[in-house]
Amino acid sequence: MILKKVVFPAAGLGTRFLPVTKCIPKEMLPIVDKPLIQYGVEEALSAGFKDVIIVTGRGKNAIEDYFDYSFELEYILSQREDNGNLEEITKLPKEVDVAYVRQKKPLGLGHAILCAENLISSDEYFGVVLSDDIIDAKVPVLKQMVEIVKKYKAPVISLMEVDKTMVNKYGIIKGKEIEERVYELNDMIEKPKVEDAPSNLAIIGRYILPAEIFSYIKKVKPGKNGEIQLTDALRDYAKKKRILGYIFEGTRYDAGDKFGYLHANIMFGLKRRDIGDKIKKIIKC
Ligand code: UTP
Repeated sequence: MILKKVVFPAAGLGTRFLPVTKCIPKEMLPIVDKPLIQYGVEEALSAGFKDVIIVTGRGKNAIEDYFDYSFELEYILSQREDNGNLEEITKLPKEVDVAYVRQKKPLGLGHAILCAENLISSDEYFGVVLSDDIIDAKVPVLKQMVEIVKKYKAPVISLMEVDKTMVNKYGIIKGKEIEERVYELNDMIEKPKVEDAPSNLAIIGRYILPAEIFSYIKKVKPGKNGEIQLTDALRDYAKKKRILGYIFEGTRYDAGDKFGYLHANIMFGLKRRDIGDKIKKIIKC
C-alpha cells in the first residue's frame, strides 16, 4: 500500500472567523505561537507522511511564505546571534517540501480535495487533514489511523463521540463496531436533526482515503452554494465498498470557531513551560 502524501485543504473562506480572515488565512491563525496548519503538518510528518500538498485559494499567500525560507529575517537573526529563533524559523522549510494546488472557487471540501487529483496516482492512499480540527494526542491521530488502514487495508475516517444534543453540528455515521474503537460504516448524514441521528459518532477532520474516492467526488451533485461535500462522496463509497471509522484517542478543539480557538490556545498554552504558570494564575483570578 502506497501511503506517503497528505492533503491540506486550506482554501475555505473562514467565515466563522471574520473579520480577521478577511486578509489572514484561517490556517495561519496561531495556537500560542505556531499557525494551525503547522500543527497538522507536524502531525502528518510524525505519522510517516512525506509529501505535503496544500490546497490554497485567493488571499492565502501567507501559507506559502510560511513554509519557505525568509532570507532577510534569517540574515538579521544570524547577525544578532539569535540562534534559537533562527533554528525555529528554518526547521520547517528544511524538513518539508510542499506542493500547492489552487482551488479557484471555494466550492466545498470535496471539490478542494479533487483539486489534488493530478498529484496522486491511481493506486495510492492519501491522508487528508483539516487543520482547524486541532487534536492534542499522545500518539498523533494520523499515526493511530495508519495502523488501522494497514491492518484492514481499507480507508479510515476519524470519529469522535459527541453529546447527543450536538449531532446537528457534525457529519454523523451509521455503522457496526468490529473492534474496540473501529466501525464499519454503512451510512453518513450531514448535520442530522437530533431525533434522526443514527449515532452520536461525529466525523472529524482526519481521513485516509484511496485515490478511487476522486471518481466518487466527481459524481456528487453540488448542494447549498454550489458546494461539493466530501461526506456525500464517502456515503456513496460506503454503499459499494468497505470504509471504516476510528474513534481516535485524544482531545479535539474546533479552532475554526472562535470559542474552540480560544479554548485550544488556553489548553496548549497551559502545557508550555514558558507561559503555562502565568496562564494558571490568570485563570484563578
Ligand atoms: P470549513 O468549513 O471548516 O472551513 O472547512 P471554511 O469554509 O473555511 O470555514 P467557515 O465555515 O466559512 O468558517 C474545513 C477545511 O476545508 C477547507 C477549509 O480551508 C478548511 O481548512 N475548505 C473548505 C477548502 O479548502 N475549500 C472549500 O471550498 C471549503
